[in-house]
Amino acid sequence: MAVLLENQTAIITGAGRGIGAATAKLFASQGARVVVSDLDAAPAEEVVAAIKADGGEAIAHAGDVTDPAFPEAVVKAAIDAFGKLNILVNNAGYTWDGMLHKMSDKQFMAMLEVHNMAPFRLARAAAPHMRDAAKAERGAGQSPEPRCIINVSSVAGLNGNVGQINYSTAKSGIAGMTKTIAKEWGAFGIRCNAVAFGMIETRLTQDQEAGEKITRAGEEVRLGIPGHMKGMINMLIPLGRAGTPEDAAGAILLLASPYASYITGHVLEVTGGLQA
Ligand SMILES: NC(=O)c1ccc[n+]([C@@H]2O[C@H](COP(=O)([O-])OP(=O)(O)OC[C@H]3O[C@@H](n4cnc5c(N)ncnc54)[C@H](O)[C@@H]3O)[C@@H](O)[C@H]2O)c1
Repeated sequence: MAVLLENQTAIITGAGRGIGAATAKLFASQGARVVVSDLDAAPAEEVVAAIKADGGEAIAHAGDVTDPAFPEAVVKAAIDAFGKLNILVNNAGYTWDGMLHKMSDKQFMAMLEVHNMAPFRLARAAAPHMRDAAKAERGAGQSPEPRCIINVSSVAGLNGNVGQINYSTAKSGIAGMTKTIAKEWGAFGIRCNAVAFGMIETRLTQDQEAGEKITRAGEEVRLGIPGHMKGMINMLIPLGRAGTPEDAAGAILLLASPYASYITGHVLEVTGGLQA
């Protein structure tokens, strides 16, 4: 049976859990060789084991996307293992919520680091294997390989969100970055799109009372949203439910697939119809 990403290599950041993990598994099932990268090595290894158990190809690469040395290292890992790079999914992220009047500079900057600086540095590190490789193929009269970047944004970046001045600012920045990459690299046949998710059931949206945390800049950051708010949000979603990580992964595959060959510079809202 024909698969959508045959003979392509993908780097997916934040692929140890949630949307990234589901995307890594879906990409592998569609023939991609996947670099499963995450801050946490153990869940990344588990995703790789699941992909291999299903007959796919993947390697794990642990690291912090905000480390300035990370982008070169993960791109090198992809090239060393698989010889080329076709798809970069900038998905790694988290929330560090607080009301504007109480938010520290550190808390604000942390969101710009993970959601803006890291995707920018990753695209720059990928340039020799995406932009320059495509340019060389064109120069040699060959049709370039399929290549694209998909950045993960949020409806908070499009509409704003109470308690997320840092996150919504950063996720909004992703739209500008996506459109700029699309304009700079379109000449080489490289597409760049973003997906703005609404409410997807992951660690980020589980009940805050469950107590999941991420340690950042020496501080424990509480993840999740207050349980009583989730019911209210679900009532505003026309499809009547939050999305699953698999729903989210489907949208990312759609943009990576040949069916999106003429889509670039687009921010796709994947929200179950939520307009808030
Ligand atoms: N879940 C939602 O409703 C929702 C909505 C809109 C956007 N998003 C975005 O989707 C992306 C994935 O989030 P998710 O919901 O799957 O959450 P998740 O917590 O389940 O997964 C995120 C993964 O990113 C990793 N990560 C976080 N910071 C990292 C860093 N500095 N370096 C490397 N890896 C890092 C985490 O370890 C984790 O495995 C994020 O960018 C998030 O902002 C999620």
